[in-house]
Amino acid sequence: MDPMFKIMGFFYLILVNLLVLNARHWSIDKKPNLWETEDLVANLPGQPMVNFRHYAGYVTVNEQNGRALFYWFYEASALPDEKPLVLWLNGGPGCSSVGYGATQEIGPFLVDTDGHALKFNPYSWNTEANLLFLESPVGVGFSYSNTSTDYDNIGDDFTAQDAYIFLHKWFLKFPSYRKRTFYIAGESYAGKYVPELAELIHDENKNSSLFIDLGGILLGNPETCDAEDWKGLVDYAWSHAVISDETHKIIKESCDFYSNDTWSNEACSQAVDEVLKQYKEIDIYSLYTSICIGNSTNSEDISMQVMFRSTSKLMPRIIGGYDPCLDDYARYYYNRADVQKALHVSDGQRLRGWSICNMTIFNGWSDSKESMLPIYKKLIASGLRIWVYSGDTDGRVPVLSTRYSLSSIGLRITRAWRPWYHQKQVGGWLQEYEGVTFATFRGAGHAVPIFKPSESLAFFSAFLSGEYPPLQR
Ligand SMILES: *[C@@H]1O[C@H](CO)[C@@H](O)[C@H](O)[C@H]1NC(C)=O
Ligand SMILES: *[C@@H]1O[C@H](CO)[C@@H](O)[C@H](O)[C@H]1NC(C)=O
Ligand SMILES: *[C@@H]1O[C@H](CO)[C@@H](O)[C@H](O)[C@H]1NC(C)=O
Ligand SMILES: *[C@@H]1O[C@H](CO)[C@@H](O)[C@H](O)[C@H]1NC(C)=O
Ligand SMILES: *[C@@H]1O[C@H](CO)[C@@H](O)[C@H](O)[C@H]1NC(C)=O
Repeated sequence: MDPMFKIMGFFYLILVNLLVLNARHWSIDKKPNLWETEDLVANLPGQPMVNFRHYAGYVTVNEQNGRALFYWFYEASALPDEKPLVLWLNGGPGCSSVGYGATQEIGPFLVDTDGHALKFNPYSWNTEANLLFLESPVGVGFSYSNTSTDYDNIGDDFTAQDAYIFLHKWFLKFPSYRKRTFYIAGESYAGKYVPELAELIHDENKNSSLFIDLGGILLGNPETCDAEDWKGLVDYAWSHAVISDETHKIIKESCDFYSNDTWSNEACSQAVDEVLKQYKEIDIYSLYTSICIGNSTNSEDISMQVMFRSTSKLMPRIIGGYDPCLDDYARYYYNRADVQKALHVSDGQRLRGWSICNMTIFNGWSDSKESMLPIYKKLIASGLRIWVYSGDTDGRVPVLSTRYSLSSIGLRITRAWRPWYHQKQVGGWLQEYEGVTFATFRGAGHAVPIFKPSESLAFFSAFLSGEYPPLQR
């Protein structure tokens, strides 16, 4: 290129930037929203310089009981007014969307390995959308209730109801997003939160004054149907050489995952115990990477271990999450006084204890819907965009679980299994059902964006546009 053009181009860019910056400042001055300025995050310790604004703070969802949910919201890094709004949820149940989604997976600032600072994530999903992270339900992360009996009722319904109220109250803080196209995304146990919240929005939308322009849902390695998820978990462990043929045979013969007392069958219970025992030796969330060998005396490190309550009549639940070392860095960072002050969590004197997963919440979970498939059917009928993806090295909610779940809905296949590409390489495989798009991520664990950041961002962008990633090299 002619050097003169380069120089002119350079000045042109500066001019455009100045205009854009001025326009944005002008619009801030023109429309000063008290809430927005109160929650603006200005001095986050260790934060890289960026050209977008972000906000954090509480939204009260129940005044009488004093329930408040913590959110962190990042404007899109360019043209936020023209981009959709996306809510991201992590699972557990009981784990933090700030600790996982925002600062390990898809947010613009990832906790750096020493916990002292943040590093910029060039693959942040806020390059494509305005990105909202919610710590939900109360008891998770910084979210709390002043009424301790609230915690006795926590389960799927409670979580969906509070998240729904949160959205409407949040829109009062950020009115320019009230009519924006809205998507919900999440992974793991959020495989339940996301369809449940989508269903609530769908139902309440009949009242036009409550209308939220929900455009679709995106689910990553989602818990979907307990029975199919268990079947997939044990078959995957067998087909990936984690357990023996003999153990698998016992499970095949003695386990009825559709029964309501699966675990009272001693042979089944013991064989499944053997699966989980083998998974304790490696990282169930990412079969082919190393585990964190650290100072594992911290009691919170159990958050990453396989949880199995064999004495319980309930389906044993295994918590969702990923790398215990990353968790340590997050824990250190969010318990800093200056960080909590910057995020409007505390005054910097009386600190709020933050942990990445709250095991009391996990253990006390009172209602968990066994299957999302009826909700899928309802949402499919309403024409909602539903995309499901699966990192294929995850043993916790493995690709087999998701395939069993989706195939049990009995949807017609409208596009046969084929590879999808990213930068001329196979990113994974994709199959379209009537109403649901399913895709795998080749070589990714449970929290896909950690392993495949560039592929994930491309896939997210494809989801928002409703157009598939390249299906040819
Ligand atoms: C919870 O109680 C504290 C202390 O009384 C109060 O400052 C706070 O505003 C209450 N939270 C809510 C959501 O009402
Ligand atoms: C965990 O949840 C319990 C209620 O189940 C709550 O009392 C406690 O404060 C929470 N812990 C943290 C660290 O937030
Ligand atoms: C619609 O929602 C508004 C706001 O919550 C409420 O005041 C109104 O009663 C609702 N209308 C119906 C028909 O339920
Ligand atoms: C299990 O299912 C059977 C048959 O559907 C039912 O009679 C029984 O009450 C159920 N038990 C529990 C603990 O839900
Ligand atoms: C591990 O423990 C040692 C001794 O207690 C301590 O000095 C070190 O800082 C710890 N390392 C981490 C990463 O917590």
